[in-house]
Amino acid sequence: MITRPCSPASFRRRLLRRACAVSVTAGLVLGPSVTPAAAATSVSCAAVVAPVTSTAVDGAWSAATRRLAALAGPASFPFGATGGGAYRRTNAYAWTSGFYPASLWLAFGRTHDPAWQTLARRYTDRLLPVAGWRGTHDLGFMIGLPVGLARTLDPERAALYDRALRVAAESLSSRWNARIGALQSATYAGRWGLIVDSAMNAPLLIEQGQAAGSVAGRRLARLGLAHLITLRRDFVRADGSTIHRQAYDPRTGRLLGPVPGQGLSAASTWARGQAWAIAGFARGYALTGDDRLLEAARRVAAYWTAHVPAGCVPAWDLDVSRDSAPRDSSAAAIAAYGLLTLADAEPDSERAAADRDHAVRTLGTLVAAPWLPAADASGVRGVLQGQTYNVPADRREGTYAWGDAYLLAALALLDVS
Ligand code: GLY
Repeated sequence: MITRPCSPASFRRRLLRRACAVSVTAGLVLGPSVTPAAAATSVSCAAVVAPVTSTAVDGAWSAATRRLAALAGPASFPFGATGGGAYRRTNAYAWTSGFYPASLWLAFGRTHDPAWQTLARRYTDRLLPVAGWRGTHDLGFMIGLPVGLARTLDPERAALYDRALRVAAESLSSRWNARIGALQSATYAGRWGLIVDSAMNAPLLIEQGQAAGSVAGRRLARLGLAHLITLRRDFVRADGSTIHRQAYDPRTGRLLGPVPGQGLSAASTWARGQAWAIAGFARGYALTGDDRLLEAARRVAAYWTAHVPAGCVPAWDLDVSRDSAPRDSSAAAIAAYGLLTLADAEPDSERAAADRDHAVRTLGTLVAAPWLPAADASGVRGVLQGQTYNVPADRREGTYAWGDAYLLAALALLDVS
């Protein structure tokens, strides 16, 4: 049976309602009628890029759906490709496995075409066993994002999705360390490690904890909030930039210090990490209404908008300014999604307008070539081009499933017609 279709406007409202328990403001205005933000902190990006238009958004979806369809088929999950190399795929246990299913659900939400629902269900079903896996902290990406969308867009199978989301939240909570006040991300050279990207995983605990409403649920929600508060304390510098990875002593909870990762150095600001922080704190605030998360989201967002260059797509690290440096369009897409999420929950209307303005201009860049070649361009793999994964290991730009998913999620938040 086919799920009852929803209009694009209600689709957006439903996406935000899951992400925004506090307040949902009026619909987004697209195109030339966007008022330049009074309180904009953006310097060059907003000055040179026009806001995305409805026509460009339509073109973007048409190119995206064509490319998503081309990635379907084998029983494995699209990951990405660089240069002319082979397009790589993974099994369900890679941290990236949820992004392609999430894109399929977003395509269904946009088109209401049952073929997308069938494909999205097929890929989501392959993911569901991962919910019980305690060996990763990325269950927000792997289960929370795609299954959360499935829960919104496929109510007929709500019980199946609710169970997976609940199990994933319980699995994630098993990584809690009370002395540190956080969920372990990974081990860095043998040390207990935390990564700023985890701001995107903690909201799964808050959301599921709130949904359960039980004593156990309230504990999950408390852990998710506490994790975000620890990230705010240890990862957000005074100027609003973020540290990528930190090591701790798990017996005492003592912070041992930054660990270099995918950025330029332990002292720099990795662009995608900053974008994950914007989106994670914004979502955490939208779910909890906690002022500490609003303050964190505002600061990391302000640092972003003040430091991205003309064109709104930064170099892979915000401390790298050479024009020839590899860029990371996925960071721009995630930041646009985060700024729209923040704008929808932001109680200050001027700040909300500024964040929304930056997001729609960023999307104005990303929906056109070279970042998103037109639907009839040949030889294009994946949706969003010009992404980087880990520049210290591989400088080549390419296309990856996470940038695709967050570009489409940001576009979905624009739907108002
Ligand atoms: N979470 C890993 C990354 O963003 O590359």
